[in-house]
Amino acid sequence: MMEKLQESTEHIKRQIGDFAPEFGIILGTGLGALVNELDIAFSIDYADIPNFPVSTVESHSGKLIFGHLAERRVVVMQGRFHYYEGYSMEQVVFPVRVMKLMGVTKLFVSNAAGGLNPAFNTSDLMVITDHINLQPSNPLIGKNIDELGPRFPDMSDAYDEHMIREAMVIAEDAGFTLQEGVYASVPGPMLETPAEYRYITILGADAVGMSTVPEVIAARHMGMKVFAISAITDMGTPDRIKKVVLSDILEAAAIAEPRMALIIRELVRRA
Ligand code: HPA
Repeated sequence: MMEKLQESTEHIKRQIGDFAPEFGIILGTGLGALVNELDIAFSIDYADIPNFPVSTVESHSGKLIFGHLAERRVVVMQGRFHYYEGYSMEQVVFPVRVMKLMGVTKLFVSNAAGGLNPAFNTSDLMVITDHINLQPSNPLIGKNIDELGPRFPDMSDAYDEHMIREAMVIAEDAGFTLQEGVYASVPGPMLETPAEYRYITILGADAVGMSTVPEVIAARHMGMKVFAISAITDMGTPDRIKKVVLSDILEAAAIAEPRMALIIRELVRRA
């Protein structure tokens, strides 16, 4: 695994020269517009990077984009890998590990999620303060890669407290509500039944989605600081469950997108 990671990292470094990204950003479903705010320096298709998985979901285009955001050097994953696509957990987190080898110290993650907290509304943003892993596996199963991190990584503060507080201030200054809560990660790809939404709510989650937690586990294993945020694209509270199709999710995410871009950009500026 280390050899594969190093081979991919070396390949990328040959393309980007001394552009060493400080921060990594993973853009979720319908949340790709942050790329328009980047001053792009390099763009590399996943397909052109050795050992990189290739994205299969149509709503995700697969590219690593290097550029400046708020005058800081960032690498953006445009399109992520989901367990439900058939990738292994190691494949899902492969790009995050490559980011670490490139020198990235902080990871910003976005996703689309179903809202479970009755105080939430469609197109709200929720800062993730903690998570519950309901995926059937995780990327640290197997022999520990000691070069990356410890066998039993601590998860008592997976989401950086300081960045959470700063995000709240950024939203307040910009005049919009930013929800906070616990994100449960499920395998998908089907959305939840009403009983499943209720079950995940009882477990203690405020939102539910199909991503993020594997990447966060890998990032924390390697000691990266993490900030994650969900766009609430549909509601899973008993009175507000509706039939959901991907176009509804994309529409709701598009409404939340400019606020999400603002938060990530301002956090990067202050980081
Ligand atoms: N459930 C799971 N994943 C999701 C949802 C949902 O309701 N909305 C967007 N991603």
